Amino acid sequence: MTAAENAPPGHVPVLRDEAVAALAPRPGARLVDATFGGGGYTAALLAAGATVIALDRDPDAIARGAALLAAHPGRLTLIETPFGDMDAHIDGVVDGVVFDLGVSSFQLDEAERGFSFRADAPLDMRMARSGASAADAVALLPESALADVIYHYGDEPAARRIARVIAMTRAQTPIATTSALADLVETALGGRRGAKIHPATKTFQALRILVNDELGELARGLAAAEALLAPGGRLAVVSFHSLEDRLVKTFLTARAGAEAAGSRHVPPVRTGPAPSFEIAARKAVAPRDAEIAANPRARSAKLRVAVRTAAPAWGPLDADLLPDETRRVCARLLGLGGSGEASA
Ligand SMILES: C[S@@+](CC[C@H](N)C(=O)[O-])C[C@H]1O[C@@H](n2cnc3c(N)ncnc32)[C@H](O)[C@@H]1O
Repeated sequence: MTAAENAPPGHVPVLRDEAVAALAPRPGARLVDATFGGGGYTAALLAAGATVIALDRDPDAIARGAALLAAHPGRLTLIETPFGDMDAHIDGVVDGVVFDLGVSSFQLDEAERGFSFRADAPLDMRMARSGASAADAVALLPESALADVIYHYGDEPAARRIARVIAMTRAQTPIATTSALADLVETALGGRRGAKIHPATKTFQALRILVNDELGELARGLAAAEALLAPGGRLAVVSFHSLEDRLVKTFLTARAGAEAAGSRHVPPVRTGPAPSFEIAARKAVAPRDAEIAANPRARSAKLRVAVRTAAPAWGPLDADLLPDETRRVCARLLGLGGSGEASA
């Protein structure tokens, strides 16, 4: 199948063929699609004869799965949940887990969800449609916490300047819409100056990661997948930005025991638990040029694949990025994890 074939309208799955092949689906296999989205991956796994447990934290995504559910009686289960909690919803072991991280085109294109600065809409960005929104974060977080969030989750060197302008602006008038925030960031950075990406891109990314606790979710999701996978079971993760990919790579490298590798002079000494994964290929798989040309969203995608060993799971994964005080403030004021800390 090509990536565009059989794709449900609205979302063209990225690296679908590669991610699906990585799970080696076969009739009778029990697989988890942790990010149902538009159902493109799930449809391909079902077409290969597998039984699929598909998750999404977005109620709209789950509702979109009704047709697929009706077409595959008994072979598809759809569960509305954050994937960090998947082990609470799934009994027994599974043969594969796939994550296709980030937001779907459905979410991006629906202006009212507030993920994009391309349309004016309420500053929302919540995948699950519940909890604190990006507007709440911009309104309630102290300037220093906002700066930390924009710096660590957006990789934005001008984070302090942006936080300053947000704090000054909100003292006069609420910042409630995507356009208001985008304009304000643009002003803080002194206009576009021929930049390739919109100056607000990194700030929007940071707020999205914060309100959805994306790194904490990923840490908990990876640990949950480790606990659920049978020996020989396969894990495939498609990520879209460097914070996600770094977390996946660090997780797999540690779990594969590679951090204990020796040097030219010292043989490898394994001091930690037995490796719970074998990495399938050291280098991440990137989309082909043709896929990137057809679907610009694929540009930054990376696929990492690993195979579960028979060793016990290592348990929760620690993936903090924000300073402790900022995490505490995000938890207190917004009820957000506000970090990549795993609690699974
Ligand atoms: C890139 S889309 C997946 C597209 C899907 N592979 C397809 O082929 O249509 C990502 C989806 O994952 C969901 N998602 C992201 N983070 C999640 C999380 N922590 N728990 C559950 N769902 C999540 C989003 O709501 C979105 O629908």
